[in-house]
Amino acid sequence: MFTSNILLCLSLCSFLALFSVSSVAVLLPTSPLTVGFYYNTCPYAEATIKGVVKSAISKDPGLGAALIRMHSHDCFVRGCDASILLDSTPGHPTEKDHFINKPSVRGFEVIDEAKLQLEAQCPQTVSCADIIAIAASESAYQLGGVSYAVQSGRRDGQHSLEKEPLDNLPSPFSNLELLKENFQRKGLSLEDMVVLSGAHSIGVSHCSSFSTRLFPSNTSDNSDEPVMDPDFARVLRSRCPKPSNNASSGADNTTIFEDIMS
Ligand code: HEM
Repeated sequence: MFTSNILLCLSLCSFLALFSVSSVAVLLPTSPLTVGFYYNTCPYAEATIKGVVKSAISKDPGLGAALIRMHSHDCFVRGCDASILLDSTPGHPTEKDHFINKPSVRGFEVIDEAKLQLEAQCPQTVSCADIIAIAASESAYQLGGVSYAVQSGRRDGQHSLEKEPLDNLPSPFSNLELLKENFQRKGLSLEDMVVLSGAHSIGVSHCSSFSTRLFPSNTSDNSDEPVMDPDFARVLRSRCPKPSNNASSGADNTTIFEDIMS
């Protein structure tokens, strides 16, 4: 299992790099990203971020997956500009508080800690968008043992709107055509989509993100959706409760590992 995860990570890592560059290209057409961007202005920037991420993952390995997901949710909305970090203010809710992100996107404290240490070393130099990108790369290294060079030079955005995750992020309820269109709008091909989706070999998912597919009519435990492998559906049904309309029942908070088969 470990070997196959490393192989998967090898291809995923190179695509995470591409993903990050492709999404930001729209935002910064005149500022090409470069490897070693902070070489002169903040020489220990990458080492500092990597140290913070490594320490966080050693205490909670689940944070690695969370940081990779944070990077993708940042990049799909307004490019990789750290808009996912902006807090809501009265009357102005931000993407961070959209139900797609809250509470399932985690790891904000890791980014905060890295930023705190970098501000002490070289004030107002390293962008939060770069911190997120490097944190995702270090997570892939810590979890899969392979590394890729991160191009840096992103600039932080100043705008974040609560409704934008819904308009931009791929939905677990979309079919293949909608997912393909969604990735195309971000400059990503079908192949990019398939490889990036390999990120789901780590981490967890709330059952509520897919349980309507396990119990389509919500009346029978045995009705498989035609496109789902019946054995896989059976395993998932044994771990996930039926979708509930009663939020206070707590059933919708059940999570399972995404790589449930291995
Ligand atoms: C194909 C489009 C995608 C869809 C529909 C999708 C959907 C989801 C959903 C529903 C979850 C579970 C969230 C929850 O219920 O807690 C999830 C988790 C995750 N996704 Fe995606 N995702 C997509 C693309 C991506 C991409 C491009 C990446 C990064 C390269 C990614 C990385 C992750 C990771 C690492 C997790 C686990 C997070 C954790 O354990 O905290 N996903 N995704």
